[in-house]
Amino acid sequence: MNKIKVHKKDKIKAEIEVPPDKSITHRAVMLASISSGESVIYNFLNSKDCYSTIEAFRSLGVKIVEEKNILKVYGVGMEGLKQPKNVIDAGNSATTVRLLSGIIAGNDIEVKIVGDESLSKRPMKRIIEPLSLMGAKITATENNYLPMVIHGSKHLKPLTWESKIASAQVKSCILFAGMYAEGETVYIEPVLSRDHTERMLQYLNVNIEKKDRMCIIKGKIKSIKNFEIEIPADPSSASYFIAIGVLTKNSEIVIRNVCVNPTRMGFINTLIKMGANISLANLTTKYNEPVADIIVKSSRLKGIKITADDVPSMIDELPLLAVIATQADGATEIHGAQELRVKESDRIKTIVSELQKLGAKIIELEDGMIVMGNTKLSSKGTIELESYKDHRIALSLAVAGTISEGNVVIKDADCVDISFPNFWEIYNSI
Ligand code: S3P
Repeated sequence: MNKIKVHKKDKIKAEIEVPPDKSITHRAVMLASISSGESVIYNFLNSKDCYSTIEAFRSLGVKIVEEKNILKVYGVGMEGLKQPKNVIDAGNSATTVRLLSGIIAGNDIEVKIVGDESLSKRPMKRIIEPLSLMGAKITATENNYLPMVIHGSKHLKPLTWESKIASAQVKSCILFAGMYAEGETVYIEPVLSRDHTERMLQYLNVNIEKKDRMCIIKGKIKSIKNFEIEIPADPSSASYFIAIGVLTKNSEIVIRNVCVNPTRMGFINTLIKMGANISLANLTTKYNEPVADIIVKSSRLKGIKITADDVPSMIDELPLLAVIATQADGATEIHGAQELRVKESDRIKTIVSELQKLGAKIIELEDGMIVMGNTKLSSKGTIELESYKDHRIALSLAVAGTISEGNVVIKDADCVDISFPNFWEIYNSI
């Protein structure tokens, strides 16, 4: 229930580090848990969502030890997960539910998964259908929602699945289940979504092939060798400070060691097309992921049109793009983003309603929004904005607050802990 007041900022010169990547941390914990032996994850993300995954694997019998920012995971092997004594609570984390389900599907155990209010409204049919075809027995509320019970099988069948939605969570779920199936599991997506799972499996020498929008995994994978990995900074967490750097006059912000995987670069590439002064330095590859420093300077922007093909590589940054678009010259149109309606909140509705309270001119569309540019945001005194307990909405509104006149207060501001535990600390330090 905590509230945080945000302020207009001026002339920022800062060099910062943002937290480790959430997607890569989830995947590293999961694959380390089913590897053989002791794996070490350096610089893991200690956010609420990642603890949901860590706790889930602990209740499946995996010993996981946390030492400062290092996790030691004592892998139990591909088929070594134990029947948990209690239900698994995935909290707010859809990544935990959907990816974990792919692994449970290949183990002869029965697991009940529950989640918080938001997660209980998120669709699971997208994984229930393909996993059931592979041979897992799944029951869920209305065949689509948590609570969900999965009974895995040691005899999964391979599957060729052409997904109608571009979702890395669905893709990863099926690739994980595919590791347990005898033969080739093929996954085809309409637009390439983030490919951290494929990259990590390649790094771990698992037999996986990538061809544009298709990946093929050749099972059964008998074992994954224990490994070490270091997690780079999360480009989605970086995006809020990239936005602040671009929108604040006379500013320059350097963000160190960020994952610049092309399937996550939609936001930065879009801002560059809009005219932003953003550059990368010290580009290297670490553990099969490209990593670089990002340098952002104040910029004058122009509006842009986003279509369905652009959406997956910036899906989590679209609410933030709406904030930025209020300051560009001309209108910005976002289309093909209906997936935003089934995120932690209905992110089309929530960002539109809160930005309108600050005077933004935005039209809500079924699959996106149209944002008019050159709009002065203002609270006319003090205004309280709802985060809807959605971390990305709270973070995007923090950026809106830094470009608004007056006092902006964000409700339930501690929900940033889901992905960015030290956000307010960094925000207040710059
Ligand atoms: C994620 C994939 C995306 C993203 C989410 C994390 C992942 O979801 O929105 O924050 O780690 O695979 P979808 O794949 O369902 O779009």
